[in-house]
Amino acid sequence: MRVGDRQLRTIWLAEDGWSVNIIDQTRLPHDLHIWRLVDLDGACRAIRDMQVRGAPLIGAAAAYGVCLALRDESSPAALDRAVTALQQTRPTAINLRWALDQMRAALAGLAPSAWPEAAYARAAEICEEDVAGNRALGQHGLAVLRGLAQGKQTPLRVLTHCNAGWLATVDWGTALAPVYAAHQEGLPVEVWVSETRPRNQGLLTAWELAQYGIPHTVVADNAAGHLMQKGLVDVCITGTDRTTARGDVCNKIGTYLKALAAHASGVPFYAGVPASSIDWTLEDGAQIPIEERAASEVTSVAGRAPAGDVQVVSLTTSPAANPAFDVTPAALVTGLITERGVCAPAELRRLYGRA
Ligand code: MRU
Repeated sequence: MRVGDRQLRTIWLAEDGWSVNIIDQTRLPHDLHIWRLVDLDGACRAIRDMQVRGAPLIGAAAAYGVCLALRDESSPAALDRAVTALQQTRPTAINLRWALDQMRAALAGLAPSAWPEAAYARAAEICEEDVAGNRALGQHGLAVLRGLAQGKQTPLRVLTHCNAGWLATVDWGTALAPVYAAHQEGLPVEVWVSETRPRNQGLLTAWELAQYGIPHTVVADNAAGHLMQKGLVDVCITGTDRTTARGDVCNKIGTYLKALAAHASGVPFYAGVPASSIDWTLEDGAQIPIEERAASEVTSVAGRAPAGDVQVVSLTTSPAANPAFDVTPAALVTGLITERGVCAPAELRRLYGRA
């Protein structure tokens, strides 16, 4: 996607052909900083500390983490170590396990000496598949937006939560892919961007949208219910970190409250769901492990000081809890926007030929 006059992805192979460049998302939206991953430890740290974040991007980064590990030592023990270390970085997004399974499958049957080359090839494919899948997902979502915009004389108002834009994937995004597609096609859209405390991923969404001049307004998380009640939202679209076979949607903390408010106000609620985010082994979203992150993310906040430097300030010294995700039951979800089309949660299995 575009940043100023540059076309960027969130992750790409460096010119040396082996190290991996990422956009360091801990520095956004204040600074655009490219960071280089050179080993397994760096890849694990990047995922854990959220230099890379967003379920599909976490998967892509894990795939390259395997490559970097095998470049140092191509053996079954090194592969096991890498998969275990990467798997432990973050527990909720299923894309991590999906990508590691893909990497193992790509190496199966090959001699360890051939693993590094095969691993880099599969990691690159995972990235390309992500881009193509999200582009297709965007087109299917665009059809939904076109339907909702029919007869409207004013721009379609989309509310999103967290960041499920291109920064959360390799490119295009999931929840925002239909928004980008609409913008490209000239369908007027305006986006309500919920701030997403404690990590404020909504500010990443705002930053992305600003690059394209897409009208958007940042609101505090608590404002979403009010906006929907007042008829100021035409549709909610969020991403997902893990969607179960029956269509329960696990996503950033606060998504469930938005879905409840949408249901109460008759606002359609959609999730952008790439195939890599579906956990076919689970039916009930209550079984999804919810990441508990550091209390310091709640008790402090980062921002740019008047002098221009980015500072972290303390908000409270009280104890804090920080569950990072929640589960929206399928009953609150109008539809799942996938790369194969849009379906009701109950139709997900059929859409993927798993009925
Ligand atoms: O904790 P994060 O920033 O990795 O959480 C990201 C989200 O919850 C996104 O909404 C989700 O991964 C969908 S990404 C297309």
